[in-house]
Amino acid sequence: MPLELEPVQRRLPDHTIHWFASTGSTMTEAARLAAAGCASGTVVGADEQTAGIGRQGHLWHSEPGNGLYVSIVLRQQFPVDAFPGLTLAIGLAVREAVLEASGIQCDLRWPNDLLVDGRKCAGILLRMEAPALIAGIGINVNHAAFPEDLASRATSLRLAGGRTIAREDLLVQVLEAVDRYCRLILEEGIQPVLRLFTQASSYVSGRRVIVDEGGSILNGTTAGLDAAGFLLLRRDNGKLVKILAGGVRPE
Ligand code: BTN
Repeated sequence: MPLELEPVQRRLPDHTIHWFASTGSTMTEAARLAAAGCASGTVVGADEQTAGIGRQGHLWHSEPGNGLYVSIVLRQQFPVDAFPGLTLAIGLAVREAVLEASGIQCDLRWPNDLLVDGRKCAGILLRMEAPALIAGIGINVNHAAFPEDLASRATSLRLAGGRTIAREDLLVQVLEAVDRYCRLILEEGIQPVLRLFTQASSYVSGRRVIVDEGGSILNGTTAGLDAAGFLLLRRDNGKLVKILAGGVRPE
C-alpha cells in the first residue's frame, strides 16, 4: 500500500518531505537536493527503491510498499569529530522510533544495524555530501518473507511482532527521534550518545565477533567504544585494535 504522506507532513511541518512511488535510491535524490541547496531536515522517501544502496557496496532489498526507505539531509554544524558518534546516534534514534511504533526492543550491532532475535530489521547509511550529511535509513516493516539469500539473516517488524505497523506512524517517530538526537549532540556532544549506545547494544563489550574490514578478517572479543565512538576489539593475540569501519558479525 502506498504511504499516505499528507497526515505525516501535517504532523511534521518543519520537514519538507519528497515522496516517490518508486526511485532508484533515496540517497541519490537526497544528494541531488542537497547539492541544489535544500533546507536541513529535508526528507526523501520512497515506497520502492529499484537500486537501494547498503553499506560496504551491498544492495538494500527494498520491497515495494512494505519497508520504510528514507534519506534525511542534515546541515547542522556538528563538531568535526562527531561523525562516528552521529552514526551511532542515528541507530539509537531508529531504535527508539521502532520501540514507540511497534513495541519491539531491538539490539544494536556496531555501528548501527538494528537486530531482533539476531536478525537484521533495519540498516543505516551515513554519507557526507559536503557541506551536508545524508542519513539513509532502511527499515523492514511489513515484509512477510525475504529472498532466499537474506532469509536466514533478515527479519521485519511484522515477522518479529506478529502485526503490521503503520509506516506513517513509524516515519513520524523516526524523524522526531533523529531531531532529538541531533539536538542532543549539538547541546551535549557525543558522550551521552556513547553511553546510551553502550547500554543498548549487546555488541559493545565482551562479545566474540568476526570483523570483515573489506578483505581482512579479524577475530576477537569486543572491548568497548573509544572516545570517538569507534569499536575496540581485543584480538586473540592480546592486541587491542580500533575498528574504523567494517562488518561485525557474531563468531
Ligand atoms: C546497511 O547496509 O545496513 C545500510 C542500509 C541503508 C538503506 C537505506 S534505504 C534508504 C536509503 N536509500 C538507500 O539507497 N539506502 C538507504
